[in-house]
Amino acid sequence: MAQRVRKAVLPVAGLGTRFLPATKAMAKEMLTVVDRPLIQYAVEECLAAGIEEFVFVTGRNKSAIEDHFDHAYELEMTLAQRGNKQAELKQTEQATIKPGNAIFTRQQKPLGLGHAVWCARHWIGREPFAVLLPDELMGDSGLLTQMIDVCERSDGSVVGLTKVPRDKVSAYGVIDPSGPLGDDGVVPVQSMVEKPPVDEAPSDLIIIGRYVLTNDVLDLIDQLGPGAGGEIQLTDALRQQAASGPFHGVVTRTTRFDTGNPFGWLTAVIDYALARPELGERLDAWMRERLARGETT
Ligand code: UTP
Repeated sequence: MAQRVRKAVLPVAGLGTRFLPATKAMAKEMLTVVDRPLIQYAVEECLAAGIEEFVFVTGRNKSAIEDHFDHAYELEMTLAQRGNKQAELKQTEQATIKPGNAIFTRQQKPLGLGHAVWCARHWIGREPFAVLLPDELMGDSGLLTQMIDVCERSDGSVVGLTKVPRDKVSAYGVIDPSGPLGDDGVVPVQSMVEKPPVDEAPSDLIIIGRYVLTNDVLDLIDQLGPGAGGEIQLTDALRQQAASGPFHGVVTRTTRFDTGNPFGWLTAVIDYALARPELGERLDAWMRERLARGETT
């Protein structure tokens, strides 16, 4: 019987070069979408999918992430004393993780995603675990929940996938399926390639920032040398797993935003704000009026 997936690694040690200068002194995972930082959406997604323990792999300028999930005693006391701030108090208290359920470890040098995951090895122990890239914002926890289920049933690693137009595949990691895509969005995977030329891509299914991995991946990363770009690539270890045992992909049905660049982040903010009852109507009206004016500067 496969072990239950209870832990998640959140690698947040990247440099965020696509979002400079905002990310010069601040982690990109602290960028807000409407009223909460990206990292909080990732934690909420995990909790909704049954994850209990968190390992944050951090780098420089990331202490705000640790503070965000701590109790803010002075703020909470002040809000509690003000009779009309109970909703705000609740929101603030919700942005915490149970005592002892989060570990923060430093990657020290951004040597790649594979290396970031490996830095979490002592806290993961010998269990399967999820990895979420928090700058990829998912509308709900449906994908992660399904991926955990597939991992626990098959006792093999699982990657999150989305379909892209064929001419766009060269920018991504692409899977090589070993069987047909099921109605449930699950597909068996035999290999994967990073950024293939369009005519050599084995499919139009790209890997997105959600992984549920069996523990042997840590030993495989341990044996890896630097890969593409001189970084220790998670994909290199996943390719070895896919070649030797059960390995699946799950195609997401949830909308996904890549908030690691200004355009993706802006679209996420607008989409999430339009869905908020207290903001949606006003924003919609403002946008219509603004677009009718036509000027872009
Ligand atoms: P990205 O590819 O988005 O890189 O990393 P980045 O450095 O964060 O951003 P850009 O491309 O320079 O704008 C994907 C995920 O892997 C983490 C990042 O924090 C992000 O969550 N990561 C990447 C690490 O934790 N360590 C690394 O060495 C590399």
